[in-house]
Amino acid sequence: MHYRPLGKSGLQVSEVGHGLWGMGSWSGSDDDTSRAALRRSIEGGCTFYDSAFVYGDGRSDKLIGEVARAYPQKALVLASKIPPADFAWPSKPTNQLHAIFPRGHVLDYAKRISDAFGRPIDLLQFHVWEDSWAHDAEWQDTVAELKSTGRIKAFGLSLNRWQPENGLAAIATGFVDSVQVIYNIFDAAPEDKLFPACRAHNVGVIARVPLDEGSLGGRLTAETRFPDGDWRARYFNSDNLAKTLPRIAALNALRPEGMSLPEMALRYILSEPTVSTVIVGMRKLAHVDDNLALSDKGPLPPALLATLRRHRWNRP
Ligand SMILES: NC(=O)c1ccc[n+]([C@@H]2O[C@H](COP(=O)([O-])OP(=O)(O)OC[C@H]3O[C@@H](n4cnc5c(N)ncnc54)[C@H](OP(=O)(O)O)[C@@H]3O)[C@@H](O)[C@H]2O)c1
Repeated sequence: MHYRPLGKSGLQVSEVGHGLWGMGSWSGSDDDTSRAALRRSIEGGCTFYDSAFVYGDGRSDKLIGEVARAYPQKALVLASKIPPADFAWPSKPTNQLHAIFPRGHVLDYAKRISDAFGRPIDLLQFHVWEDSWAHDAEWQDTVAELKSTGRIKAFGLSLNRWQPENGLAAIATGFVDSVQVIYNIFDAAPEDKLFPACRAHNVGVIARVPLDEGSLGGRLTAETRFPDGDWRARYFNSDNLAKTLPRIAALNALRPEGMSLPEMALRYILSEPTVSTVIVGMRKLAHVDDNLALSDKGPLPPALLATLRRHRWNRP
């Protein structure tokens, strides 16, 4: 496993990280399997764990906190996210910072997350962001207070789905150590403006949804259905599924011999040096083993990367 700096935070993170949304709130999760997957990834050299309070109302925060306590000798970096006070996704451009991340709400949820972790929070992120808030002193003062009291080590933003440029002003303030953004073969727009800004301000990049919620895992078919209540039932609705499957088929046709689709998708992201860590949702031991092993395989060949760039999918 290779490690990269998380921007200017002083934290080093494994370049393959572990995303915990699935084990917090997707159908098909059970806590014993999730604990086993977390133990396997810690033992395999993964050090970055991305949770959020909203993933099962603290469920994944508690799971990783509990498992991490058994590995005091490992330099694990535990990240989580403060939900917006209105608990509404997606965020609206008309939202006011004071209504969404008031000081009391942020301090309250930071305490809940830290209690679940059983230790200070290595990286605390806001779970939505509107860049019109960038120069508002309320969040800047709250973040400075959380750092000075030792509740958090670093602070980051989780940028809204398919809005990689809705964070550029905040990055320039110097208060942000990392951004978390959707980045994969399809959703390559962060390469345009976000990554150059992160390089200029030494802000870490957490690449999320690397397998497009599973389509780049290669197992979806026209018959795939998810149970009601599972977020993927909405995401992979019949319209999106019909648009996605031919794109997956086109990528499959490009795979070099012996390379699986998830390997090609994850190594595409690891080939980008601006990325600090790619957080893959992993609940199965086999996925942990396969994905962690990719770090040692290195970047994709330049010719394949250039071809894959033509499969970018700009979504509104
Ligand atoms: N900030 C935000 O608003 C936000 C939003 C979305 C995600 N995230 C973060 O990003 C993380 C990753 O995104 P995600 O979990 O939504 O989606 P993802 O990583 O794009 O896809 C996860 C899916 O891929 C499957 N998978 C993993 N490795 C595989 C492999 N080697 N072969 C085939 N399939 C494989 C997983 O299987 P299993 O079902 O068996 O586990 C799961 O179904 C989340 O867990 C979360 O930490 C943050």
